[in-house]
Amino acid sequence: MKTYIVGNWKMNLTVGESSIYLQKLLKRIRPAKGIEIAIAPSLVALQPLGVQLERAKSKIKLCTQNFYHRDFGAYTGEVSVTQLRGLADYAIIGHSERRYIFGETNKDLKQKVAAAIRNNITPILCIGETENERNFGETADILRDELFGALSEIDAEDIKKVIIAYEPVWAISSTKGAKLAAPDDIAESIKLIRSELKEIYGKEVSEETPILYGGSVNPNNAGAYLTIPGVNGLLIGGSSLISDHFVDIIDLAKRVRS
Ligand code: 13P
Repeated sequence: MKTYIVGNWKMNLTVGESSIYLQKLLKRIRPAKGIEIAIAPSLVALQPLGVQLERAKSKIKLCTQNFYHRDFGAYTGEVSVTQLRGLADYAIIGHSERRYIFGETNKDLKQKVAAAIRNNITPILCIGETENERNFGETADILRDELFGALSEIDAEDIKKVIIAYEPVWAISSTKGAKLAAPDDIAESIKLIRSELKEIYGKEVSEETPILYGGSVNPNNAGAYLTIPGVNGLLIGGSSLISDHFVDIIDLAKRVRS
């Protein structure tokens, strides 16, 4: 299975800054077998970065941070995943910032996962418990609820097109005070997710669905997180905005794989 290194830039960098940043990455990143690198810039930067990547014949992929689940229509201000076809290969869905700041529900996410699959864009479905939920011992229930809330209509064939990202909400943005997740805690949650997948879709899907970890990943902890059993890559926020850090993490992924 591939190792996925995905940088989620969130609402950072102007179009010009994104392009300069990508130029730096293009100079420093060498393609490596088995490592899939994707960046999720702001929606407005997807098109120019797509052109830049094409010109450089780069294997770096683009990921959208958001989209609306309908394909076309009278939805002022929205961008559909249909409009992103050919531009983005991946789509982040269910990020906790969308759930908690923008009120996205399992019902919305179910429609988004279906729309991404319908449009041949790989959904990266984020799930994860808050600190309170963890403290009240509800982690397993939350993971199950978020997983199947979004996947309830996904059949045994389409589940093979889905990537899961485990992002405990309490571990996102440690630079702003969040805690760092311990590898053992992550391992336990990954095990839970795989056992839920097994129950619904069977052993093969449970073993072969890529599961990424996200939450304050940096070059100091990326090696440890990448070696957690069942982790197939990283979804990186803050550190993906620092080109040296992002490149270091990619290099670590290459070393862990070799
Ligand atoms: P940080 O790496 O900044 O904690 O963000 C993680 C995240 O939310 C990635 O989607």
